[in-house]
Formats: sequence, C-alpha cells, structure tokens
Amino acid sequence: MLKKARIAVLVSGGGTNLQALLDSQSRGELAHGEICLVISSQHGAYALERAKNAGVDGRVVNRKEAGSQEAFEAGISALLSEYNIDFIILAGFMSILSESFTSRWPERIINVHPALIPAFAGKGYYGLKVHEAALERGVKVTGATVHFVNEIPDGGRIIFQKVVEVMDDDTPQTLQRRVMEQAEWILLPRAAELVSRSIAEERG
Ligand code: GAR
Repeated sequence: MLKKARIAVLVSGGGTNLQALLDSQSRGELAHGEICLVISSQHGAYALERAKNAGVDGRVVNRKEAGSQEAFEAGISALLSEYNIDFIILAGFMSILSESFTSRWPERIINVHPALIPAFAGKGYYGLKVHEAALERGVKVTGATVHFVNEIPDGGRIIFQKVVEVMDDDTPQTLQRRVMEQAEWILLPRAAELVSRSIAEERG
C-alpha cells in the first residue's frame, strides 16, 4: 500500500473547487492523496466552513496582516511544514506566490484557472474578471485549465484543459457557473489524483 500524498488546499473565497476535491475524496476517487489542511488568505472565507464540515483543519494566513510578501509566504511555509505537506493545490487562491516560494515546490503546486490558457491568463486575470474579458472579446468557447505553478503567473506546464461553450445571453456570472460545472470541478480532482499518484509512486 503506497503512502498517500499529503495535500494542502489554498483558497480565498467560496471554495466550490475545494468542495469538488473534498467530494472526490469522499467518493474514494482521490485514492493516492489526502487533504490534510486548508489555508485561506481571507478571514471568513466560506471555504473554511467547507473544510470544517469535512473535518479538515483550516487556517488563515492574510497578506496584509503578515505585512510583507516574505512574511506571508513564511506563514504559509510554516503551516506546510507543520502538516508535513507534499503537494499544494491552489483552488481559487487569489494571491500570487513569489519565485522564492514556487521554486521550492517544483511540479508540486497546481492551480485551476477559469479560461483556456494562454487566453485570458496572467496578471490581473482572476475570478469573474476572466469571464468579463472573455465576453468582452466575444469568444465563442472558453473553458478551464489545470496547470503546474511556476514563477510565471499562469505559466507552468498544462495538465488538463476542457472547452466550454459561451452562450449569446451569458453574463460573467452565468459563464463562470458553466465553466465551473462543466470543467473546473471535473478537471481539478482528476489532476489532484494524477499528481498524488505520481508523488506516492515516486516515494514507493
Ligand atoms: C474559480 O473559478 C477559479 O478557477 C478562479 O476563481 C474561482 C474560485 O472559485 N481562480 C482564479 O481565477 C485564479 N487565477 P471557488 O472559490 O468557488 O473555487
């Protein structure tokens, strides 16, 4: 029996992607990983409730309170060590992590982005802004991407992508919901298991 990869999920808001991960774990689909910790960059994020309901520890590390990017990342790193984390999943995490952080976790951090990278990606493209930009440009399809995180925002190696249709009467909110339902909530748990398995197998 392989030892499971210990996972931390980093969140900032509602946490529907965290919920998709927790649900896939309870269905037994996250066979090679275990969600051990949720770190929120915001106090009161609903994602913390979701963690609590699933019996997973939730902690807050806030960038403003930390005072600097360095202190913010040191706070996160201390928790990752405390929980012996192997693998980090960014699930609606709205802070950028510096190169000094990401370079310590090569191919051990993944992120879900609500568009088909390289479209509508990089600095300034997050959350609803991505869908607003897609509608403004008039694209007929969009989607979601799960990728490894490196020093370039939304620039790491792509793991999975899925196309989602844009409807004529879409608002940013209706498009966001469709992209989540048809792509994000499916791809992220799948990628979580894929990377967990490779970590577990590598360790033997
Ligand atoms: C999701 O659509 C996620 O892809 C996006 O924020 C939303 C978070 O929702 N992430 C980014 O834009 C990161 N660049 P959730 O909190 O309900 O999972």
